[in-house]
Amino acid sequence: MKKVYLETFGCQMNVSDSERIATTLEADGYQITSDEDSAEVILFNTCSVREKAEHKLYTRIGQVRKTKQNQSALIGVLGCVAQLEGETLFQKSEGIDFVLGTKAVGRISSAIENTSGRHQTYIDLGEREANYEWSVSEKQRHSPYVAFVPIIEGCNKFCTYCIVPFSRGRERSLPASNIIRQVLDLRRQGVKEIHLIGQNVNSYRPKTDTGLENFVGATPFSRLLRAVAATGIERIKFTTSFPRDFHPDIVDAIDENENLCNWVHLPVQSGSDRILKAMRRGHTIENYLRRIDKIRASRRDISLTTDIIVGFPGETIEDFQDTVKLAEYCQFDMYYMFKYSPRPGTPAFELPDDVSPKTKTERFLELEQVLKRSQFNSLQKELNKTVKVLAEGFSSRTNDILSGHLASHKIVNFEAGKELLGQIVNVKITECKSNTLFGKIV
Ligand code: 5AD
Ligand code: SF4
Repeated sequence: MKKVYLETFGCQMNVSDSERIATTLEADGYQITSDEDSAEVILFNTCSVREKAEHKLYTRIGQVRKTKQNQSALIGVLGCVAQLEGETLFQKSEGIDFVLGTKAVGRISSAIENTSGRHQTYIDLGEREANYEWSVSEKQRHSPYVAFVPIIEGCNKFCTYCIVPFSRGRERSLPASNIIRQVLDLRRQGVKEIHLIGQNVNSYRPKTDTGLENFVGATPFSRLLRAVAATGIERIKFTTSFPRDFHPDIVDAIDENENLCNWVHLPVQSGSDRILKAMRRGHTIENYLRRIDKIRASRRDISLTTDIIVGFPGETIEDFQDTVKLAEYCQFDMYYMFKYSPRPGTPAFELPDDVSPKTKTERFLELEQVLKRSQFNSLQKELNKTVKVLAEGFSSRTNDILSGHLASHKIVNFEAGKELLGQIVNVKITECKSNTLFGKIV
């Protein structure tokens, strides 16, 4: 039985793809190992969203080539870098045996077979199989209690800074009947929380209505949310939402269904209309704020999180201050922040990257202060409350402290034994440190 080591970089979609890659390999008689030294096949599932993520791949290949005991092991590059670089990867980094694009991952076993024992490289950037299997075996899920369910792949938005429409192709929604079947299976297997995932989940638009006929909603996505809620699974989260397509009915669906979690991730990217236009985001600050007001007016305390890029080409100090102002107004419960990273092939790559690295860092740190403060305030609101936490695993530091998420996606650490793993437990919040809550079982 061939041993395969699989390392994943990047977003939830990559983690989810890797789960399916491992599922396929296992079904075809391979053994997945966490020990890269003993592996006969080494796979990197890659990310190209920022330059740093892409460089990680080249560093890791270098390390593996140098330290690997098994010099004959095959190295395969999958995912976004594979799709974008194609043939050129073989020149860019020595020692790669095969390259498999984002839609070709279902053919991982034939890529290995086609490369094994032959002294030639292999590449497959082809389309997805019509009968591609989206479900994941229980053993290969990243968690026994939490599962990712892709509902839409690709992206049609072409924000000017973003490589994703090029690495992942056009939007394609999965049939609702398939999604609902997967959720019912997961529920039967004891999964407590599912994440409906996609680059833009709320752009969900399947070819037919099968599976959604009995559900109301102003958009196919809000009908899907109600249909998934009706499966009775305990928790449903969804990421990422695209502001332009964020219909108020999504908030109504959350208000109506307790198992639709009180968390919305809505990346704003910038607080300046001028920059948003240059980014071609398709939303203005005014209509972003209208959506936020609807979310904040919910009867449930919906946690609002975002992504922001600082230092986009042409960003002036005034543009940046507009972003700071927006962050102060929105009081985000959690955030991801990035320095603009030029990506070859995107429209913004043609613009001068004219905000200096020093200024990018200064703006990053200044905005971080504002975002950290609102994140801390949001966590502090939980102090002395008794909240429901899904006990997902051990805290990174010790084995007698468990860690898990609230429905609002805040993280809590609490003292408890492993027998509680997989359960949704009541925890009284006793302490709040920078970005984590601590509590005691009640
Ligand atoms: N530079 C910096 N950040 C980027 N993102 C996407 N492309 C870039 C880029 N070229 C960020 C956006 C997006 C998140 C997933 O990554 O904020 O929402
Ligand atoms: Fe990239 Fe914009 Fe698509 Fe998000 S919506 S993946 S930022 S192009």
